[in-house]
Amino acid sequence: MIRSVVRGIGSALPRRIMKNADFEGMVETSDEWIAQRTGIRQRHIAADDETTASLGEAAARAALANAGLTPDDIDLIVLATSTPNNTFPATAVEIQNRLGMRHGFAFDMQAVCSGFVYAVTTADLYIKGGLAKRVLVIGSETFSRILDWSDRSTCVLFGDGAGALVLEAEEGQGTIADRGVLAASLRSDGTHKDKLYVDGGPSTTGTVGHLKMEGREVFKHAVGMITDVIEDVFAQTGVSADTLDWFVPHQANKRIIDASAKKLGIAEDKAVVTVHLHGNTSAASVPLALSTAVADGRIKKGDLVMLEAMGGGFTWGAVLLRW
Ligand SMILES: CC(C)(COP(=O)(O)OP(=O)(O)OC[C@H]1O[C@@H](n2cnc3c(N)ncnc32)[C@H](O)[C@@H]1OP(=O)(O)O)[C@@H](O)C(=O)NCCC(=O)NCCS
Repeated sequence: MIRSVVRGIGSALPRRIMKNADFEGMVETSDEWIAQRTGIRQRHIAADDETTASLGEAAARAALANAGLTPDDIDLIVLATSTPNNTFPATAVEIQNRLGMRHGFAFDMQAVCSGFVYAVTTADLYIKGGLAKRVLVIGSETFSRILDWSDRSTCVLFGDGAGALVLEAEEGQGTIADRGVLAASLRSDGTHKDKLYVDGGPSTTGTVGHLKMEGREVFKHAVGMITDVIEDVFAQTGVSADTLDWFVPHQANKRIIDASAKKLGIAEDKAVVTVHLHGNTSAASVPLALSTAVADGRIKKGDLVMLEAMGGGFTWGAVLLRW
């Protein structure tokens, strides 16, 4: 059986760090409120010359270097983003151009904060279907550009950044002892649209719009949705909370991460948490967390890793892979 195995990982963050205290003169808030309710202490904010394409390119180059590969070795780029450089063409194609890739194909995926989980699942199917041997899967976002900076209930929560993986086809045995993507579970439900959305778009207002969220409502649904898809992956594979090595959740709120791990019986020290450093970077949050835990030596070759995310739509999903 063909497996999609991780060959390399990389990330990129804007130069500027914005601490919680930096909001104190802008909106009525405090470092204490933000840290206590969300776990966030700082986030990176893109400068004018830092875009979803430039951050995505930097993360892609880092992942390629980590894999010992060049753009010539890549067949497909899947970019998860909700903050593209332009309405069209796809920012993935712009990244392809920036990498000097004159072959293969590239496209964007839009599943908001679940984007990276959707993109890994999609890349895995392209590899299994024989359409690509090596895929760059990127999550890159500049949510700072769609925030209402006068709305304290949302502007403190998000940040900018990018992460990327190189996946490569490898023959496996078809068991969960294989390296690579082992199982996935994806869901969406449009009845929740009004709880988290952007109030603009090319076909409606003709503007980019701003992020709107009913935070309490999102919080209420998050834990149940996250645990449902992870339990589905557990059921598909026979893997349990005990046999899992690492839990790499979407980084929106430390309280959501803690409550999900607790409900699933996943030990606290198996959860990779980076929300204090990056805030919610939407589709970039899972690869940024993965990248952090690989760089500091926690995630090692052969480890069983559960990725999970939930976001606007609602969309949600989980991916189990062996590093
Ligand atoms: C947004 C979130 C942190 C708010 O925390 P909460 O405990 O639910 O807080 P509430 O929304 O109930 O607000 C409590 C109070 O804090 C206020 N508040 C909101 N943002 C604030 C801020 N940045 N600073 C200070 N006070 C703030 C509210 O106005 C409210 O005041 P009120 O009681 O006078 O009306 C939380 O709901 C959350 O994280 N939700 C999920 C968001 C998420 O994960 N989204 C991304 C999914 S991909």
